[in-house]
Amino acid sequence: MAKGSALASIQISLVLLLAIFVCSEADLLDPYYCCRGKETKITVYLQLFTGGPKTTSVAVAGAPGRPRTLSEFGTIFVNDANMTEGISYRSPTIGRAQGLYIVSARNGNSSQGIFSFIFSNSQYNGSTLEFQGPGFILQTGGPTSEIPVIGGTKKFRLARGYGLFKIVRQNLSLNNTVIMGNITVVSNNKFE
Ligand SMILES: *[C@@H]1O[C@H](CO)[C@@H](O)[C@H](O)[C@H]1NC(C)=O
Ligand SMILES: *[C@@H]1O[C@H](CO)[C@@H](O)[C@H](O)[C@H]1NC(C)=O
Ligand SMILES: *[C@@H]1O[C@H](CO)[C@@H](O)[C@H](O)[C@H]1NC(C)=O
Ligand SMILES: *[C@@H]1O[C@H](CO)[C@@H](O)[C@H](O)[C@H]1NC(C)=O
Ligand SMILES: *[C@@H]1O[C@H](CO)[C@@H](O)[C@H](O)[C@H]1NC(C)=O
Ligand SMILES: *[C@@H]1O[C@H](CO)[C@@H](O)[C@H](O)[C@H]1NC(C)=O
Repeated sequence: MAKGSALASIQISLVLLLAIFVCSEADLLDPYYCCRGKETKITVYLQLFTGGPKTTSVAVAGAPGRPRTLSEFGTIFVNDANMTEGISYRSPTIGRAQGLYIVSARNGNSSQGIFSFIFSNSQYNGSTLEFQGPGFILQTGGPTSEIPVIGGTKKFRLARGYGLFKIVRQNLSLNNTVIMGNITVVSNNKFE
């Protein structure tokens, strides 16, 4: 037997072994359940308050001697914002969006978002989604930014996907900025 085809058959056996290890025989016949995962689409509104008693976003670090603003290279913000079902901050809360927002481009035109969605509504209570990627925009008038979903827990184990985010409302007298997010994830909660 040629060396190449022997190698190929070893590779195929390894792939089969791996498939049997990850999925039971029944699951193998049900690719939606085991091997492809389940698709979930969620729309949320992040309620940011940049001042006043409800403040959700604070600048915690910056380049020495420079202002800590949304367009200043090196500024790091920590956020802890309510996620609501509807656009109003009074709409039912479904969880919290917590994490970091880092102005990561020298010209201040781009940022790095590293944040989690921590759900508390009955449907996803205790489950989380983890986001990380460039271009997360907190400033008005920015384009829609797309941030990868790089993981999750509980109902969203093995999650992968993306979120599309844009600012949909700003009320300066309330210090309130609302970011809409459309999230699409494929996950596998088989091991929950
Ligand atoms: C908005 O933020 C400013 C500056 O932090 C603060 O003085 C003001 O009280 C805030 N307004 C409300 C309604 O929270
Ligand atoms: C977040 O939502 C809770 C209700 O779920 C509310 O009590 C709280 O005031 C909200 N926080 C802010 C900053 O709006
Ligand atoms: C940053 O973006 C703005 C708006 O797109 C643009 O006008 C400006 O030239 C950019 N700044 C730099 C330094 O690229
Ligand atoms: C979510 O889980 C916590 C802790 O298990 C529980 O106290 C809470 O009542 C649950 N909330 C909902 C909406 O199911
Ligand atoms: C989310 O999806 C809705 C419905 O398709 C759309 O109207 C809205 O603009 C989308 N928002 C974002 C941030 O992509
Ligand atoms: C901001 O909120 C206040 C209080 O809810 C409201 O009276 C005002 O019309 C809002 N302004 C804008 C521009 O939506």
